[in-house]
Parts: sequence; C-alpha cells; structure tokens
Amino acid sequence: MDKVNFRKMENGTAEDYAFLDKLEDKFKSDLPNRLIEALKGLQNSISGYQINRLDHSLQGATRALRAGEDTEMIMAVLFHDIGDSLAPYSHSEMAAALLRPFVSVKIYWIVKHHGVFQMYYYAHHCGGDRNARERFIDSPWYEDTIHFCHNYDQNCFDSDYDSKPLEFFIPMIRDFFAKPRADDEEELARYGKGA
Ligand SMILES: [Fe+2]
Ligand SMILES: [Fe+2]
Repeated sequence: MDKVNFRKMENGTAEDYAFLDKLEDKFKSDLPNRLIEALKGLQNSISGYQINRLDHSLQGATRALRAGEDTEMIMAVLFHDIGDSLAPYSHSEMAAALLRPFVSVKIYWIVKHHGVFQMYYYAHHCGGDRNARERFIDSPWYEDTIHFCHNYDQNCFDSDYDSKPLEFFIPMIRDFFAKPRADDEEELARYGKGA
C-alpha cells in the first residue's frame, strides 16, 4: 500500500490507520529538521530592529546558556518567537503550543505569556498599559516570567553581543525534540490545559 483507499475518514479500516500511523511516526521523527528550518526563516521576520529575529533568538538562548539555565529553558528561549511569521497576533500562544509536549507546565506558561510581560518595556511609549502583566500577579510563575523577559528577551537586541551560532544549538534541538516528555499527559491533568 502506498496510499489508503478511503475518501472519508469514517470509511477507513484498521489496516488503513495502521499504515497511516507508521507514516505519521516517521513524519514526527523529522520534527527537529522542520524546527531548524523554521528558525532559519526568522531571518526574514519582523524588520527594523538592529538584529533579525533569528539573531535575537540565538542571543537569548546564548544568554540563558551562559547563565547556567537548563536545556528546557534554553530551548524555550530559542523558540519563543517562532510564531512571529505565521501568528503575528498570537505569537506567544503559538510558541507555547509548539513547546508544550516537551516542557514543564511552568515553561509552557512563561512562553505563553511572554508577549504580555514584554509590554512592560515598551507599551507606555505607544498608548498601551505597561503593567498589563499585573493581571497575572497571582500566578506561581509571575516572577519567573519577569525573569525570562528581563534577561532573555527584552535585552536581546544587541548587535555587538557574541551569540553562539545556530549550528551550536542543532545537536541540542535534535535531542530535545526527539520525543515528548513521558509525563506530559500527567502534567496536563494536574494543571489543566488552560494553565
Ligand atoms: Fe515574543
Ligand atoms: Fe523575543
């Protein structure tokens, strides 16, 4: 079989779905390559800053690495703006959704809310509320998100910073996104999908 026969999913057989499962597993195993290509695409994302979004992401990830953060945090920083091209109105949520099966609920929450927390650094210049983050003040991860934005995002537009190149992070990406966390479902059950 190189293709299933059904034209409506309701007409598929167990054999069809076993065949499709195998192809899907193969496709999933190629995820790290697609993520690496998506990162490269950030070179052509939002312009006007001193450095492009790929270099911004590499700078953040390098700062996290040098600060001694764990791999989960380094990967979260590297991919936090991956939604900039396809989800310009919801880029934080897109990055969080991509990372969720691979990271703790804490890291998921930080990435999902980083856009609102970033407003602290600029919104007062353009008619927005720089304190919008305060509506999350009761979150257990409020201070962690401030830490993320302050140290690995808002300060990562320095064209003189000595960032590691993308090649440096590639083995880490391949290893980290090889398979979801074993306790992904357990964490979701504990905190809920809306965490
Ligand atoms: Fe962002
Ligand atoms: Fe950013």
